Amino acid sequence: MKQIIDVKVKTRKAAFTECKTDVLVVGRFADDGPDEVIQALDRKLNGGIDRLARLGDFTGKPKTHALLYSEGKMAAQRVLLLGLGERKKATLDTIRRAAAAAASQAVDLKLRRIALALHRACGNGFAAADLGRAMAEGAYSGSYRYDEYVSENGNGRLGALEVQIVDPEPARLRDLTPGVSAGIVIGQAQSYARTVANRPANVINPPALARAARDLAHRLRSVRCTIFDDKQLQARGMGGILAVGSGSQSKPRLILLEYTPARKPAPGAPTVALVGKAVTFDSGGISIKPAQDMDQMKFDKTGGIAVLATIRALAELKLPLRVLGVIPAAENLPSGSSYRPGDIITTYSGKTVEILNTDAEGRMILCDGLAYAAERKCDVIIDIATLTGACMVALGSYKAGLMSNDDDLVARLQRAAEESGESVWRLPTGDEYAEEMKSKIADLKNAGSRWGGACTAASFLQQFVGAAKWAHLDIAGMDVFLKPTEYGCVGGTGFGVRLLTTYLMNLAERK
Ligand code: BES
Ligand code: MN
Ligand code: ZN
Repeated sequence: MKQIIDVKVKTRKAAFTECKTDVLVVGRFADDGPDEVIQALDRKLNGGIDRLARLGDFTGKPKTHALLYSEGKMAAQRVLLLGLGERKKATLDTIRRAAAAAASQAVDLKLRRIALALHRACGNGFAAADLGRAMAEGAYSGSYRYDEYVSENGNGRLGALEVQIVDPEPARLRDLTPGVSAGIVIGQAQSYARTVANRPANVINPPALARAARDLAHRLRSVRCTIFDDKQLQARGMGGILAVGSGSQSKPRLILLEYTPARKPAPGAPTVALVGKAVTFDSGGISIKPAQDMDQMKFDKTGGIAVLATIRALAELKLPLRVLGVIPAAENLPSGSSYRPGDIITTYSGKTVEILNTDAEGRMILCDGLAYAAERKCDVIIDIATLTGACMVALGSYKAGLMSNDDDLVARLQRAAEESGESVWRLPTGDEYAEEMKSKIADLKNAGSRWGGACTAASFLQQFVGAAKWAHLDIAGMDVFLKPTEYGCVGGTGFGVRLLTTYLMNLAERK
């Protein structure tokens, strides 16, 4: 797939004052004085940075910046000074966001070449590789624009941006490099996820998503792709996926991606299944949604896309782990052939579900995907889905809901969230919630009361995972940026790609 802006990230050995580039980007904490890098630049600029600081224009406060033109006084055309906030509050995400903010500005200014020296402000507080990875990931996020369908002179149609991570010291560059390499893979995978997410439902329907998965697997080699079409879904009794897809002309699919590493996994390493909801458009079906903001429901496929892009990243990183991607894909539309409230559906597991609301469709496709992953004897099953408005009510657009039957898996995902900057918050699930999902005329019903909707939905899913360690990520509210941020443009966020890849990287490194 063509990258909307072709971003290249590399490391480069150069003295900061001699680095030829369109803009050199440095950071400063609010509670620090100017460090040696800023002092050296200041000398070259005849005190220009010091004058800015005296005017109160460069304090280091978070999310502030100042742009200076070097006017021939040094090799870089411009210096972008970024505020990093208080040093003790700094995390890797501070650096990731700063790199993203710089890359975003570079795109807006139509620059071709930028140089990042953000790691220098951090001293020895973080491992160099982690800083390199954060800068590379941030560079991809911030420069991301989606203008595939804007004809002629679309915003930001730049062509290419080269991002150099610079340092004069070879030893430091060497330490940064493995992180930068991983950050490039993860950044590109996340941009891929954003583009597939941004594509509308008339372009990405379930068969088209299946083709995208097949193309990806073909390129990756170590990934085998199997697609169940509607006839195979029928033959296997995957009644949940079929019910949700029955109202649309585009037939549902189950997309399977099996990653087998070239390097043998460590003995005892778990086999992980990633199960992602891909409702390519969620109108609500017969229980139709209001018209307001219904267009946003093209993003109801983003759980599945996060799985697709994570498989891409871990195959490119060549992680020594066996991972199965399971992506049930369907379009939820009202028509004469739709499933209806009152219907009783026999799911792949054999459990029957009374439909009370056709808009609670995510759990109906996921339950078949989860039962399939459980049947394949995966040790760990993680599902990711834009599942409930209730999760958005609970957590807003800052954290994804995390529900699980295993405390160790929760701790691992929480740690991956901290490292990746994709936040999660644990919410409860279990028997009390499951009680609400019992039907009088079937094994389960697909909707509970108004209260605790994110938790009852999770408790529904939990009943399909068998003996596996299981976690559920409810990413409703995390799937889309409603306004531009330092992480780039409005639209798909690619949420989950960094989180899941980080979790798998740690698992592979037995951390
Ligand atoms: N895809 C929606 C959840 C959603 C809502 C995601 C808003 C992102 C933004 C899901 O399929 C849905 O409609 N859930 C219902 C469940 C209810 C009918 C039990 C909901 O949350 O209202
Ligand atoms: Mn719905
Ligand atoms: Zn949905």
